[in-house]
Amino acid sequence: MPPVLANLPLPIIGSPLFIISNPRLVIEQCKAGVVGSMPALNARPASQLDEWLAEITETLAAYNRAHPDKPAAPFAINQIVHKSNDRLQHDMELCAKYKVPIVITSLGARTDVNDAVHGWGGVVLHDIINNSFAKKAIEKGADGLIAVAAGAGGHAGVKSPFALVQEIREWFDGPIALSGAIASGGAVLAARAMGADFAYIGSAFIATEEARASDGYKQMIVESSSDDIIYSNLFTGVHGNYLKGSIRAAGLDPEKLPESDPSAMNFGGDAKKAWKDIWGCGQGIGIVKEVVPARVLIARLVREYEAARKALALS
Ligand SMILES: Cc1cc2nc3c(=O)[nH]c(=O)nc-3n(C[C@H](O)[C@H](O)[C@H](O)COP(=O)(O)O)c2cc1C
Repeated sequence: MPPVLANLPLPIIGSPLFIISNPRLVIEQCKAGVVGSMPALNARPASQLDEWLAEITETLAAYNRAHPDKPAAPFAINQIVHKSNDRLQHDMELCAKYKVPIVITSLGARTDVNDAVHGWGGVVLHDIINNSFAKKAIEKGADGLIAVAAGAGGHAGVKSPFALVQEIREWFDGPIALSGAIASGGAVLAARAMGADFAYIGSAFIATEEARASDGYKQMIVESSSDDIIYSNLFTGVHGNYLKGSIRAAGLDPEKLPESDPSAMNFGGDAKKAWKDIWGCGQGIGIVKEVVPARVLIARLVREYEAARKALALS
């Protein structure tokens, strides 16, 4: 296990959320012991990334000076390594400036990006939806994998987490984070029992006070369950899970969505505008009953995790 990922306070990574993650959420996650992350693209204009990285780095350093016995978890920055991301080089230079400890790469694995991160001593986790992409990512130099299973919010795969983790563990003994519908402490423990090292949690953090999502979005998560989630490729060209209520509100019938044109895939400026009101969400949010500060959500996860551990030890 790379040192930055060894002995984390909790086996949990708060996943990057397009538009929604921001320095406030990342800082609260890290202070509460969860690896906080955000997409570099959330900083707009691009120059804002410098300010955000300074804020995160300085706040966490001050926190660690004040709490040497209980330091914050490290943070991660997500880079979309797709050809439509014309900011990649700029954003990577800023990650180098701040020596970002963990870089999460999505939508493409690139040796040059991995080499650059290793150059400043960082580690790369690459997200994949099947075993062959996992092999490619490791061949290209990623240090660890994020296995995105069925039911994950945003772009999601279709594999059962049991199948995906099992197949990767046959040949890979490095770090694996499991993603997809994890929203309870029991599910975090299950991910570890399955062979993953970390649970990778996204949608549950949308319903936190710090998340940069509208009140309507947060409330819809509180009121929804897995029956209210639909899997479609219409909105970005790649299949993902979305809240049916937001699709209805946009005037579409979620049960009768057309297939999309993959050439329409775009993560540049237009992506934000085109589907701003179509809300990504994973299947695990049935357990999310209220909008709370991130630290309260994390405290619930810890309570449930410890209770699940005790229950198993007794059985
Ligand atoms: C609204 C939303 C936006 C997302 N944006 C990104 C992103 O920008 N980059 C990325 O790597 N993953 C993104 N994801 C995927 C998450 O990082 C993660 O895989 C997923 O949220 C985990 O499943 P869960 O939501 O069921 O916990 C997004 C997910 C959601 C729900």
